[in-house]
Amino acid sequence: MQIKEILKLEPAGQQVVVKGWVKTKRGQANIVFININDGSALKNIQAVVENGKIGEELLKTVTTGAAVAVTGTLVASSGAGQAVEVLAEKIEVYGPADESFPIQPKKHSLEFLREKAHLRFRTNVFGAVFRVRHTLAYAIHKFYHEQGFFYLHTPIITASDAEGAGEMFRVSTFQPNKAPLTETGEIDFSQDFFGRETSLTVSGQLEGELGALALSRIYTFGPTFRAENSNTSRHLAEFWMIEPEVAFFDLEDNMNLAESFVKYVIRYALEHCAEDLEFLQNRLVEEEKQKPQNERSELTLIDKLRFVAENDFERLTYTEAIDILLKSKPAQKKQFQYEVAWGIDLQSEHERYLVEKHFKKPVILTNYPKEIKAFYMKQDDDLNGAPGPTVRAMDVLFPGIGEIIGGSQREDNYEKLIARVQEVGIDPENIWWYLETRKFGSAPHAGFGLGFERLVLFVTGMTNIRDVIPFPRTPKNAEF
Ligand code: 4AD
Ligand code: MG
Repeated sequence: MQIKEILKLEPAGQQVVVKGWVKTKRGQANIVFININDGSALKNIQAVVENGKIGEELLKTVTTGAAVAVTGTLVASSGAGQAVEVLAEKIEVYGPADESFPIQPKKHSLEFLREKAHLRFRTNVFGAVFRVRHTLAYAIHKFYHEQGFFYLHTPIITASDAEGAGEMFRVSTFQPNKAPLTETGEIDFSQDFFGRETSLTVSGQLEGELGALALSRIYTFGPTFRAENSNTSRHLAEFWMIEPEVAFFDLEDNMNLAESFVKYVIRYALEHCAEDLEFLQNRLVEEEKQKPQNERSELTLIDKLRFVAENDFERLTYTEAIDILLKSKPAQKKQFQYEVAWGIDLQSEHERYLVEKHFKKPVILTNYPKEIKAFYMKQDDDLNGAPGPTVRAMDVLFPGIGEIIGGSQREDNYEKLIARVQEVGIDPENIWWYLETRKFGSAPHAGFGLGFERLVLFVTGMTNIRDVIPFPRTPKNAEF
């Protein structure tokens, strides 16, 4: 039985077996208290060893970090903070841990624990983070299942660059320096495993669209890879993305879906991770004590989550946002690092100003300039019905995070799409299959991508994305 289940039992003198890892051991010769945790929940169970019930030599090996099985009687506990405890009768030590075990009962910095990623799951913080991460993943599947979506597994290896940003990791079986060359001296990918250049996918969207144009509602939830050299607290080279794609949806439907989706999963976490969230909330308060007052969060973690779950997101166009930014204090005082002008790709400082200072709530920005967005977004018409300068894009911006969702209505007009593909320099031959869906039964459709780690970051109140994925992949870092 897991410890979280044992902790819920009525103590009636029954025999229980507790299996887990020793957090702490304290006491004297005649009575010893051992705290054990198995990761099933934040709470430990206390085992009590009375008066030499367990041999001294064996008890010596029951140290912080050791894996043990304690058999004993479940009794009511007189200690504070726990209803039950186990009176130990037998202890088996599966694997001891000596004093060199790095996770000793004291405060460790998150940076230190990142270097001990193989053991950091054993800490309260990472136990809580990964239980919340699991719960969010479960809530995501539950939400889409309940809304009639089908989970579509799009490929990880691909020959197309969905976002057109060229930030792909190559997939090849060629030996470096021994790749066969063509007559003109270039690498001859026709001899490679797939007979062409291939990479790890940056997004499952293009294949997702093919599914949506038959199943109507699909979503992907898988790993995606970006070889961008970003060393920020918001970027990973390998991250998980959820990408719903819906036939017959326009931009407004897409925004409604994104908003109700994020609210649903946050509410689910609030309901099902109360203990872990409270723990993470206290951790955040401690962390923020080192910051000056004006940089600390105005709301506690749980209040912030409730606020987001219960209030409407602000919706406005990119053009309206630029106006607000141009008139803002930091722009007037030249405090933004990047200058604001219509046409710029909003920087994180601009997004955070809008969300944290101006609106003080999540914001959905729409209708971005087409130059800064991907080729597949539906073009807006101008007032005369000719192609305008913007596309039906939407980004959802969150406090403390910036962009958490990016999406759009898709271009469903074959001629317009082909024109755009050529304009941005993509070879239509490469995505003939994508283009063909616009020839046969094309339909309006829309979708978006939610960065899963950014969601976990927001919900757990952690501050670095490396701390919400088990084994982060970032530039110059692929240990573990
Ligand atoms: O805005 P992005 O690039 O959009 C797409 O990939 C579309 N194909 C999605 C779609 O319409 N189906 O990425 C979507 C989200 C971002 O909003 C962000 O939350 C996350 O993915 N993201 C990253 N998360 C962690 N590390 C990175 N390097 C990320 N890049 C994007
Ligand atoms: Mg984006």
